[in-house]
Amino acid sequence: MALDSKSTVLINGAAGGVGHLALQLAKWKGARVIAVASGAHETFLRELGADEFIDYTKERPEEVVRDVDLVLDTVGGPDSRRFLRTLKRGGSLYPVYFGQFDDEENAKLGVTVTAVSVRSSGAQLAELQSLVDAGKIRVAIDSRFPLADARAAHERVARGAYPGQGRAHGRLGKSRFTDASGGRPQGAGGLRDADAETWGRLAIRWS
Ligand SMILES: NC(=O)c1ccc[n+]([C@@H]2O[C@H](COP(=O)([O-])OP(=O)(O)OC[C@H]3O[C@@H](n4cnc5c(N)ncnc54)[C@H](OP(=O)(O)O)[C@@H]3O)[C@@H](O)[C@H]2O)c1
Repeated sequence: MALDSKSTVLINGAAGGVGHLALQLAKWKGARVIAVASGAHETFLRELGADEFIDYTKERPEEVVRDVDLVLDTVGGPDSRRFLRTLKRGGSLYPVYFGQFDDEENAKLGVTVTAVSVRSSGAQLAELQSLVDAGKIRVAIDSRFPLADARAAHERVARGAYPGQGRAHGRLGKSRFTDASGGRPQGAGGLRDADAETWGRLAIRWS
């Protein structure tokens, strides 16, 4: 879906590995972004450009948001259907986990629901890389592993003994690691250390 400065996008799960990148891409396209996450991530997401923030532990986004052009629901599943009512006619819902939808209901509302799946595109990845290199898209990193410790990296993610969620990002090549379980996490991609700490996430980047 093409986005521009007239578009409003709601991202459910905006603090996640997928959501925080989607938020920045939507902002890069000029859209107004409503970010949904837990309150601990508000400052963080606003720093990334979120225009509005909804703490899902305090209010339900589908009850307070209307007339958006696009919903990216990175949580997805059966609950995703609740976002139909937040869309304007012509709007689109992209649940990461596809739930149950009724084609007739979608048609009546004038909205489209599309399953999200990975499509490899070298051109898009190259563009993404240039956005990261230019500091327009930032990836939260608080832990770095040498490639030889890939197993330890996965085990670290599986343990989950850190605030937030674990996520792996990046590309193959030489690598770096700082363990988030001990000292202060290190920022990267233009993030200050404090930002990375606020994100409280384990992101692994092979670079
Ligand atoms: N990461 C990838 O590269 C990747 C690639 C393809 C597909 N996927 C899929 O995409 C989905 C999301 O992945 P992810 O990596 O973004 O997950 P994630 O890092 O675990 O993030 C999920 C986010 O969802 C938020 N959340 C949890 N419950 C919520 C609720 N009830 N309402 C709103 N937000 C809620 C959490 O926010 P708080 O932390 O603020 O509580 C969390 O940050 C998963 O199904 C994953 O399998 C991921």
